[in-house]
Amino acid sequence: MILVTTAGKVGTEVARLLADRGKPVRVLVRDPGKVTAPARSGVEVATGDLDDPASVDVAMRGVSSVVLVSPAIPVQEINVVESAVRAGAGHVVKITSKASVDSPIARRRDQAEIENRLIASGLGHTLLRNNAYMQNFFMSAPSIVRTSRFGSAAGDGRLGMVDTRDVAAVAAEIAAAPAAHAGRTYWPTGPESISFADAAEVLSKVLGRTIGFDPLTVEEQARALIEVGLPEGLAAMNAQAVGLFAEGDCDYVTDDVPAVVGRPARSFEQFVADHAAVFS
Ligand SMILES: NC(=O)c1ccc[n+]([C@@H]2O[C@H](COP(=O)([O-])OP(=O)(O)OC[C@H]3O[C@@H](n4cnc5c(N)ncnc54)[C@H](OP(=O)(O)O)[C@@H]3O)[C@@H](O)[C@H]2O)c1
Repeated sequence: MILVTTAGKVGTEVARLLADRGKPVRVLVRDPGKVTAPARSGVEVATGDLDDPASVDVAMRGVSSVVLVSPAIPVQEINVVESAVRAGAGHVVKITSKASVDSPIARRRDQAEIENRLIASGLGHTLLRNNAYMQNFFMSAPSIVRTSRFGSAAGDGRLGMVDTRDVAAVAAEIAAAPAAHAGRTYWPTGPESISFADAAEVLSKVLGRTIGFDPLTVEEQARALIEVGLPEGLAAMNAQAVGLFAEGDCDYVTDDVPAVVGRPARSFEQFVADHAAVFS
């Protein structure tokens, strides 16, 4: 049995891919009502909360591999690591980012704390230190739909953005056959590093109308994120990370996605084409 700790963007796709391969898979969710019928097909749903270790222990019964994905609050993810140790689960695939104990970004320090606890646990593990997600553009969709423009504090910075469907494909592959990936750290990215001005050109081409890009300050970026519903603290932290994009923080590309899944990573153009309705 493979346990996927939450059913967000990455977790839902991991569960779907594993179920399609006929692998026994279980997702831990707070609210089973939010798991759509297609996402449930072939997937066991365990109701629990990462803040409640007893509920994680119930979801962990009979589990051989875990895909650890959540908003990455240390106490919650460490609950999962400790539960996996108690249950004798063999391997944990940890969804993470550019983790570092001395990062200016609190989430990256939190990720480093979780990674270090996982490594110290003695469990088999693989770290997926993902580049920024293409799916972050969904937060700009209301603006693109309304005004055919979007803003970002990424400036001229280029990013090797990755599609969360590819992050999920890498995680599913490793969870299903972890041996070759034990102790490894991967840096999943898309196939190319592009600026937000490049992204505007791709959006224009695929959507068939001109989409403009407006550079924002970090403060303006935080306000824009609050406007699309993020809590103030999270918006400030995410805006700070976007400010780092302008300095080239995510300007790198790896071949980790093709190396693990045996096909090219999805391009930004493919991402926009697959979700054109969201931006139209
Ligand atoms: N965004 C990026 O560009 C980026 C880049 C690299 C890495 N990452 C990493 O990716 C991870 C986030 O993955 P994602 O985008 O798939 O997340 P997501 O779509 O935001 O989903 C998070 C899920 O966690 C669930 N959840 C929250 N608190 C919970 C709790 N206490 N118990 C059980 N479930 C809980 C939420 O469920 P509810 O519906 O119940 O709230 C939601 O389904 C983080 O580690 C982040 O650092 C993100």
